[in-house]
Amino acid sequence: MTEKKNNNIAIIGLSWGDEGKGKFVDYLAQKADIVVRFNGGNNAGHTVVSNGVKFKFKLMPSGAPLEKEVIIANGCVVDPKVLLDEIDDLKKLGKKINLKLSSTAHIIFPFHKVLDGLEEVSKGEYSAGTTKRGIGPTYSDKAARWGIRVFDLINPQLLKNKLERLFKIKKGLINVYDPDWDTDLNSIYEEYKSYGERLRPYVIDTAYYLNKAIDSGKRIVFEGAQGNLLGIDHGMYPYGTSSNANALGICAGSGVPPQKINKIVGVIKAYTSRVGGGLFPTELTNNIAEKIREQGHEYGTVTGRPRRVGWIDLFNIKYGIMINGVEKLIITLLDALQGISPLKICTGYKLDGRTLESWPIHSEIIQECMPIYREFEGWEPRTSQEWSEIAKQGYNALPETMKTYIQAIQNELQTEIAIVSIGPDRNDTIVLDENLF
Ligand code: IMP
Ligand code: MG
Repeated sequence: MTEKKNNNIAIIGLSWGDEGKGKFVDYLAQKADIVVRFNGGNNAGHTVVSNGVKFKFKLMPSGAPLEKEVIIANGCVVDPKVLLDEIDDLKKLGKKINLKLSSTAHIIFPFHKVLDGLEEVSKGEYSAGTTKRGIGPTYSDKAARWGIRVFDLINPQLLKNKLERLFKIKKGLINVYDPDWDTDLNSIYEEYKSYGERLRPYVIDTAYYLNKAIDSGKRIVFEGAQGNLLGIDHGMYPYGTSSNANALGICAGSGVPPQKINKIVGVIKAYTSRVGGGLFPTELTNNIAEKIREQGHEYGTVTGRPRRVGWIDLFNIKYGIMINGVEKLIITLLDALQGISPLKICTGYKLDGRTLESWPIHSEIIQECMPIYREFEGWEPRTSQEWSEIAKQGYNALPETMKTYIQAIQNELQTEIAIVSIGPDRNDTIVLDENLF
């Protein structure tokens, strides 16, 4: 039997995003040639501390600080101004830009952002609390097949024709909500035409490029944005985003077939956070929540909103492990739970006196369920230097109570934890599986 290849790895958030994926994409990118974003747009906020410098990316794949080749693939939606700003910021820091942008990714226009805001209001209790970056309306246009793509953006005549058509439709729609709304189409066209000119050098057929790269033995990290529970098909619809924010999204979102993705790694946080609307069964609203929020710096990277926080929910994570085919786990932000005792982990749900077999997916059912908890003793606070010191010494140096907590999570999930993270820096990491990538 031939040995399974270990060249390509995917990093997927298993909850509602913000599990700390950026840090591990940066970590694994050290051994990679290419880092690929395959879903979402600048709704994502990926914080990367690379060689002591803090980067906050919205669109740029997290391999950029290492000057790796980075790809924004077809499954993404692109706000060209945001991308150009991120390119400029990296250039200012002296970083080489090695970007490839898919010609078939869809473009976000100002009217998408206007619609995002208006639709949120009109959705009332079904609003997801979006980032208002125009993500949903842009993916809607993609599905409706009148979206404008990167290829159009870099071809002024195509851009003009398609923009005129799309604008007429979008203006009509916006006027349903706000009859007085108008804007100067020509200035949008001129602005976007100039973005197209600046982005043209980066544009290629990334699906072809990636398949060739994989065939020639290049090592790839697929960087998930958001998380499994926010996914359009397998998340908590409608309280999520508009793309497949999971491993299933990699193939359609990058043009790489399933058998070429060698390993799927799920990232979980030692607790749970959620930004935006929708049910959150293990949510905390007391002073423990405040403590976790402060210690974990749980404020949105994109919008600055305080994130909702709660106990870790292994029941929905188990579902995520199944949907994503997760082979290994990374657990993050254990340090942020310091000084809290007892800690709770949710292992299942009860409905009408019955213990449920699987995560019930629908908010309407979830709101009737009662989480089942196990309690664990917490660990004492330490300074960030002390946590870094512990990380250097390795797993055995962790507090005993933390090891018990980690082992219990691993046993419940029946999935091996490959990396433990106890701080934001790349070095605040304990690797338990040296062959991960
Ligand atoms: P949208 O993606 O802006 O349409 O927002 C839809 C939902 O997904 C909202 O609840 C957002 O708060 C949430 N969301 C979108 N992107 C992220 C992310 O990167 N991290 C966490 N939540 C996100
Ligand atoms: Mg984030």
